Amino acid sequence: MRIDAARLAQSIEELGRIGATPRGGLTRLALTDDDRRGRDLMVRWMREAGLRVTIDQMGNIFGERAGTERVPPVMMGSHIDSVPTGGKYDGQLGVLCALETVRALNDHSVRTRHPVTVAIFTNEEGARFQPAMLASGVMAGKIALEDAYNARDKDGLRLVDELERIGYLGAEPCVPRPFRAYLELHIEQGPVLEEAGLQVGVVDGIVAIAWSRLTIRGVQDHAGPTPMRIRHDALVAAAEVVGGVRAIARELGGDLVTTVGNLTVQPNIPNAIPGTVTLSIDMRDPRTETLDAARARLDALVRAACEREGVRGELDHYWRVPYTPFAPDVVAAVERAAVASGARHRHILSGAGHDAQYMAAIGPAGMIFVPSRGGRSHCEEEFTAMDDIAHGATTLFLAAVDLAERV
Ligand code: GLV
Ligand code: MN
Ligand code: MN
Repeated sequence: MRIDAARLAQSIEELGRIGATPRGGLTRLALTDDDRRGRDLMVRWMREAGLRVTIDQMGNIFGERAGTERVPPVMMGSHIDSVPTGGKYDGQLGVLCALETVRALNDHSVRTRHPVTVAIFTNEEGARFQPAMLASGVMAGKIALEDAYNARDKDGLRLVDELERIGYLGAEPCVPRPFRAYLELHIEQGPVLEEAGLQVGVVDGIVAIAWSRLTIRGVQDHAGPTPMRIRHDALVAAAEVVGGVRAIARELGGDLVTTVGNLTVQPNIPNAIPGTVTLSIDMRDPRTETLDAARARLDALVRAACEREGVRGELDHYWRVPYTPFAPDVVAAVERAAVASGARHRHILSGAGHDAQYMAAIGPAGMIFVPSRGGRSHCEEEFTAMDDIAHGATTLFLAAVDLAERV
């Protein structure tokens, strides 16, 4: 029994054309027309593979292959939205390897006791609507449906209106559903597997993640006649915060990573002192205590930077996901499958958030990583070699057959 690597490569190529960038990457933000085209293609492929497709209130897509008994399914999935100028592998690969698993089960007429379900989650990236993993968060009961519906993109468009516009506002309730196991294959997005010359990562868990939003209000004024001594420049305070956020990781050390990735400046012209600046702060660490310490330092940093410049800072710590260990029996099944697939593998921790993190809050979950060339991701250079993908897909397939119990 094997997956069809050539068919999988063909599907990666075909889905990757929707929203492709000239430099070989992908821009397919959640709930855009390209997202709709990607979804339409996936739904067609899922139906062609014999899956019963349903859509829930958050636009999550599920395709079920019946089992021999009416017991909870083995669910496999990920997302097909991307970051701007991102890559063709983040998320897409997990969904396509899940589909390939179903196609391979069909090829070999395999029957399983548990149903096998392919899941595609809405707005995993958090690039267009914040926070990330929004729809699996609603499904896990960690984010209120109403809050998710009211999330707005940078142009003020509401998530629920965009869901409706692209035709993916489904009727199924977005609530926790029982599953035997949730499996997600994903690119590593870091350098560990490649540096060790390995093909598969057996993922033990995902780090804790905290997102904050800072709004700094200074005094907008003319860049010429305003003497330096009376300025209250929001961007000068923001610049101190950007450097300070980097310093928090340096000072606390260990595995802590800190990033300011988004900055908006108003009025953002050469000849006005910036009046308002907003910026995002992303901090991650396996240990909750370290994130608590980092947050305390961030509070102090913002206070000091704003005081020095005579501006006002409003800091909103609006999203946090705890450290998430995966279910031992699912991790063990992934490990057995990695061995059986002949992949060179090791255990690994995820530094990126995934829908599996929220799914782990409601049932047994686990993940499979494949290497990222140069450790690069969330960029157009993102790449994983087909040989590594084939080992990962085989691992997913074998783990799914194991957990769904072949009859
Ligand atoms: C999801 O891509 C994340 O921010 O980890
Ligand atoms: Mn992803
Ligand atoms: Mn991503």
